[in-house]
Amino acid sequence: MRILIVGEGGREHALAWRLARDRDVAEVMVAPGNDGIARGHRTLPIRADDHDLLIDACRAERVDLVVIGPEAPLAAGLADRLRAAGVGAYGPSAEAARLESSKAFAKTILAEAGAPTARAEVFESIEPARAALARFGPRWVIKADGLAAGKGVLVTADRGTAEGFLVECLVDGRFGASGRRVLIEEHLEGDEASLMAVCDGRVATALPTARDYKRARDGDEGPNTGGMGAMAPHPAMTPEVERRAMEGIIMPVLARMAERGTPFNGTLYTGLMLTASGPRALEFNVRFGDPEAQVVLPLVEGPLAATLHAAAIGRPSGGAVRRASGAAVAVALVDDGYPDAVHGAGVIEGLDALEARDDVLVFHAGTAWRDGRWWVRGGRAAYVVAQAPSREAAREQAYAAIATLGGRGWRCRRDVASDGPAPVPASRGAR
Ligand code: AMP
Ligand code: GLY
Repeated sequence: MRILIVGEGGREHALAWRLARDRDVAEVMVAPGNDGIARGHRTLPIRADDHDLLIDACRAERVDLVVIGPEAPLAAGLADRLRAAGVGAYGPSAEAARLESSKAFAKTILAEAGAPTARAEVFESIEPARAALARFGPRWVIKADGLAAGKGVLVTADRGTAEGFLVECLVDGRFGASGRRVLIEEHLEGDEASLMAVCDGRVATALPTARDYKRARDGDEGPNTGGMGAMAPHPAMTPEVERRAMEGIIMPVLARMAERGTPFNGTLYTGLMLTASGPRALEFNVRFGDPEAQVVLPLVEGPLAATLHAAAIGRPSGGAVRRASGAAVAVALVDDGYPDAVHGAGVIEGLDALEARDDVLVFHAGTAWRDGRWWVRGGRAAYVVAQAPSREAAREQAYAAIATLGGRGWRCRRDVASDGPAPVPASRGAR
């Protein structure tokens, strides 16, 4: 099988690494990829939004399967275009991708599927939305309907802040078309978990569960980020909780999508709140989570490429993927100003030595290779991932590896996968 992965972050590096391990995979290419991915795989200089060039490349390279990493190309219809061109695409149609690209659509499908979620109302103008605040909160949960690069959700106990956000979305157009509609939602309490399933339109195969660390600082403080780390499996996702989430949320939603003539092929990811009355859906993503993929994929054994290919073309897969025992932990190395003020001047020393070791994995996101060094190009530079028999051991292994790194202008959270900080420096150099 010849595979092309679309995207350029840590998730795509993890996908390339994992798929290349399957015996039936001849080559994994990545478009556009990044300098770190290019060390181990051929990268093609084609952007995810250049659908025509991607289709040409699939023909020229005789690609059997395209795995689409990020949500934007899915929402823009890349999977539809590829399928129409006769190329196997793992990822939902634009219509099915609305589960992520419209939170109002996701609520409608959840309701039709009878799946547990937070009560919500949808608004397109400011006065009714403002008046509705009295029916919710405190705390208030307000969401821009469309894609907003992870910035479209506000959770606050302050009514003024809630009103301000409504004005930003509905009056000032802060998120453009994505914020012309908002949802005001019931606030749920509990532990959050990520559950991903490989879906072929009818059948869902659950992958190991995960938790991501979204906040910038130790102790879950600071602003939300694209992900400071992750662990798998999620300690609170017992087989019983997972069964309830699969049978109560993922499977009925998949069935509902098929019924309305828009079957879902790809990774259906539900962000769950584990409430006292059971798991409830907070959101859907229509792709692998980032950084969840970096910890989940190392724990998937068996023919993953064949499983994704079978899901892509809606056929039963020949063999089943299995879960490895043990745990995986990923820690993000980020620009020391991330997420508010990325400096883009950091250097990470020792990454290549880590990559050469067999007790940790390095997945590159926003790094650049220049003058013989790894520079911190974007907010999230790279992920250090360790896999071990227990979560504690994986965490220790990851932080021990990070402690060998030098350089400047980067930092990491010290408390990924733990209740307290790890005994290593949080940052090096500047600030
Ligand atoms: P979302 O993008 O919809 O997952 O929301 C981003 C984050 O906001 C989630 O990871 C939760 O931490 C929080 N959140 C979203 N919806 C709710 C809710 N109904 N109750 C409490 N917290 C929420
Ligand atoms: N980790 C959440 C996401 O991928 O959006």
